[in-house]
Amino acid sequence: MLLYGLLLLSLSFWTSHAVFKIPLKMFAGKFNASVQLDLRALRKNQSAVESGLSLASDPAGIVNFLDMINNLKGDSGRGYYMEMVIGTPGQTFNILVDTGSSNFAVAAAQHPYITHYYNRALSSTYQSSGRGVAVKYTQGEWEGELGTDRITIPQGPSGTITINIATILTSEGFFLPGINWQGILGLAYPLLARPDPSVEPFFNSVVKQTGIPDVFSLQMCGAGVSASTTADPAGGSLIMGGVEPTLYQGSVWYTPILEEWYYQVEVLKLEVGAQNLNLDCKEYNSDKAIVDSGTTLLRLPGNVFSAVVEAILQTSLIDDFSAGFFEGTKLACWMKGESPWSLFPKISIYLRATNTSQSFRITILPQLYVQPVTDIDGTFDCFRFGITSSANALVIGATVMEGFYVIFDRALKRVGFAVSTCAESGGVPFAEIAGPFLAEGVASDCTSGMPLREPVMWVIAYALMGICALVLIVLLILLMLPCQRHRDGEITDESSLVRHRIK
Ligand SMILES: *[C@@H]1O[C@H](CO)[C@@H](O)[C@H](O)[C@H]1NC(C)=O
Ligand SMILES: *[C@@H]1O[C@H](CO)[C@@H](O)[C@H](O)[C@H]1NC(C)=O
Ligand SMILES: *[C@@H]1O[C@H](CO)[C@@H](O)[C@H](O)[C@H]1NC(C)=O
Repeated sequence: MLLYGLLLLSLSFWTSHAVFKIPLKMFAGKFNASVQLDLRALRKNQSAVESGLSLASDPAGIVNFLDMINNLKGDSGRGYYMEMVIGTPGQTFNILVDTGSSNFAVAAAQHPYITHYYNRALSSTYQSSGRGVAVKYTQGEWEGELGTDRITIPQGPSGTITINIATILTSEGFFLPGINWQGILGLAYPLLARPDPSVEPFFNSVVKQTGIPDVFSLQMCGAGVSASTTADPAGGSLIMGGVEPTLYQGSVWYTPILEEWYYQVEVLKLEVGAQNLNLDCKEYNSDKAIVDSGTTLLRLPGNVFSAVVEAILQTSLIDDFSAGFFEGTKLACWMKGESPWSLFPKISIYLRATNTSQSFRITILPQLYVQPVTDIDGTFDCFRFGITSSANALVIGATVMEGFYVIFDRALKRVGFAVSTCAESGGVPFAEIAGPFLAEGVASDCTSGMPLREPVMWVIAYALMGICALVLIVLLILLMLPCQRHRDGEITDESSLVRHRIK
């Protein structure tokens, strides 16, 4: 999912041309309520920093883990990327790591927001398949050509791997200002691959060709780091083939992968502060709950989002707080050194455990969801709300993932969470994990009754088309029978009904 943080500043900029008020909230003596901050200087064409990525695809050898530590750079707003070498001779690129899609794609033509692109003509090992391919994400899309080439990963499994590559020839809203990557590595399952699931995704190829275990794990270390400090991006690790114990502390809790397309999991309950939101658990999974490194924020289904904001307002010590902050249209700024985090509650997400009558909870502290974005004149620190609403999914994006070491254990069809070693400040962790809890009351399925998923829809569509074809054939035969038992009008009515059903 490429849904970075486009949310906050952009709306503010649309609604006011030059000067706009940002909701300042500070404590007596430190807050000058008459300050009107001119944010023109900060305006950077809605860069990825201000907005964030939303990159869920929308479909509709010898492994040395130590070599892989710190092989990522980036932050939640612009995404985490890894260096990869493509073609013969090798061309080097930064590739965004996205667990919400399944195509490997790299820029193959000039674009204003990227520094360089993959030149297929210069690679003796590139083979075009002659097929076109297009991918749409929650935010952004691209089109190009499918082919194969060899790649190596300097800080990954050793050896050369031949993989499917989509070369991006045109794109819209995909590459954003401020990003430092030129391609995307979709780590989800074949079902999401475009144009169809026969295009083997990158990690499937790696496992087949190198023999590493079918597991990868991600540590993203941007928590608490202001996204605008571009000089020295935060780091992270993508461990391919297993789990590196130095990257987490405490125990690992696993939740089953419900269906292998996205990394779809089951959310049982949400708490703000220690208060249960008490919504029907189906609402939390409407119409799916997924773990997606390519989405900047924690995205919540509309009803859930409203309930969370309401609960934060009730629990927090903040009164008279601008709604624009929660809507993502405004930043909140505090005097430098005046940390806002003590004003906000913890948020807990309960996931079903592998023992399905139990659950465990992952808890994020405000340090993860009230995110420093920029400062003003060295006087104020400004923050955005790291949670937003979504029309079709609960997305556990970078906002949450930055607190945890997340293990995508495809071999055992489960996703593991443990507290990340890099999500802390001064020894105080930004994330907590606890369990087991009885999954009482929600022992039943929290996901049934949801709208049909796209692949299922296709099967149904084809089945319907088959039935319609049969009906049409029968109708034609009836028409041609000498003994016409139906009047023409009736048949016409019937077939138009059939046509209507196809639609
Ligand atoms: C508050 O800010 C305004 C505008 O910047 C300034 O003129 C005024 O002196 C400030 N007041 C205090 C008490 O700092
Ligand atoms: C912002 O966009 C305008 C026009 O699209 C462009 O001329 C300008 O250079 C951009 N500024 C930055 C900082 O990218
Ligand atoms: C699963 O959890 C239930 C409830 O806590 C417990 O009674 C049961 O023994 C557990 N099963 C296993 C296999 O651990």
